[in-house]
Amino acid sequence: MSSSRGRLTSGILLAAVISLEIGSACADDLTRSGEADFNMYCADCHGDDARGNGPRAFGLTAPPPDLTRLAERHEGVFPRESVTALIDGRASVSTHGSREMPVWGKWFKIEAEEGLGGAEGDEGSIRKRVNALVDYLISIQE
Ligand code: HEC
Repeated sequence: MSSSRGRLTSGILLAAVISLEIGSACADDLTRSGEADFNMYCADCHGDDARGNGPRAFGLTAPPPDLTRLAERHEGVFPRESVTALIDGRASVSTHGSREMPVWGKWFKIEAEEGLGGAEGDEGSIRKRVNALVDYLISIQE
């Protein structure tokens, strides 16, 4: 008798934990995948297929580069480090006067601060999101 009540209680607890996890995954933008972030933040300019023909591309001085050919343009090796730094953008703002692409590191930091209620963990979540974006770009190379 008491053991079946125990099972029932742990079953309820498990259900509560699962629904809590599902709830926070939906509410928490920081767990987005690279592809979801790409569609949300990058496709406007770079296009749904990342070839540089998004609806916002036309107002820019330089067309957004085709992101499916980053490896091809670098002798077949995807330049992970420079692409990561470029997407984050915070390290190169002062030297890149004419940059038209938003500084995503700054943007993700603001979102991290809003999501986490403070500075704790910001850098980790920024790196995770930029890395996920880079992994997505690697997966669509031609
Ligand atoms: C407002 C339009 C715009 C948005 C939005 C945008 N980009 Fe860009 N992106 C550009 C432009 C324009 C360039 C060319 C360099 C420059 O002028 O800043 C570029 C360059 C790049 C490059 C360098 C490509 C190369 O050939 O070296 C990468 C990588 C990149 N973007 C990734 C992204 C990712 C990832 C996102 C979303 C998080 C994004 N971009 C969002 C406009 C945009």
